[in-house]
Amino acid sequence: MQAVPALDARLSATAGLCRPGLPVADIGCDHGKLTAYLACSGLYPRVIGADLRPGPLSKAVLAVKSARCEDRVDLRLGDGLSVLQPYEVGTVVLAGVSAQTTIEILQAAPWVFSPQGPRLVLVPATKHATLRGWLYQQGFALAADLPVQAGGKWYAVMAADYTGCPAVPTLAQCVYGETGQHPGGADYAALQRGKLRKYRLGLADTDPLAHEIDTLLKEAKAAGLACSL
Ligand SMILES: C[S@@+](CC[C@H](N)C(=O)[O-])C[C@H]1O[C@@H](n2cnc3c(N)ncnc32)[C@H](O)[C@@H]1O
Repeated sequence: MQAVPALDARLSATAGLCRPGLPVADIGCDHGKLTAYLACSGLYPRVIGADLRPGPLSKAVLAVKSARCEDRVDLRLGDGLSVLQPYEVGTVVLAGVSAQTTIEILQAAPWVFSPQGPRLVLVPATKHATLRGWLYQQGFALAADLPVQAGGKWYAVMAADYTGCPAVPTLAQCVYGETGQHPGGADYAALQRGKLRKYRLGLADTDPLAHEIDTLLKEAKAAGLACSL
């Protein structure tokens, strides 16, 4: 019997942001649930699942076998986007790795920074604000930025398309992105402010960033908005 993997809210939102009709790559696929789910959806001519390590990739082999979608899946072992040919896919998913790893993986693949490049669907495990800031500065626009709760944690599920127009984002854009437009945005923002308050403790009062953070937190307080820490 075919066992299409069930996805939690985080991976379900991730799947919903991939461009249909073009191949898709799930980089850092690990358990392979998203890879197999995307292949079973019939929306993508090819799904590439890749991981840096053989252990996780062998889990993906089992997930794909059990979902009986081997004919639409390539599983590849390797580092980041080095497993892909330039422009091979319409969407690159990077979910569950740190913001820093996400940035390093993308920086190593210059073809991503092009209007013909793939949509990036990113779910950083850490430092959402750092990743948003980097995306804006590199000339990406956020086509989606969904606050999603799964397993008691808040995630930001982002879709970024290259525009070639780098921007200098405000601190608020980095911290909240576009999440305020969606249900859950207020809870996500409260969590982000809590992290910001903690980060502020490590900064000298003379640091310009400290001033920016103080202003943002004061504005939120004046608007009667909560802080989760
Ligand atoms: C926490 S798991 C996330 C699994 C899945 N994407 C998810 O979000 O549920 C992170 C996976 O990324 C893989 N990974 C880490 N760095 C990588 C890299 N540079 N290239 C490919 N995979 C990588 C790890 O081996 C691990 O299997």
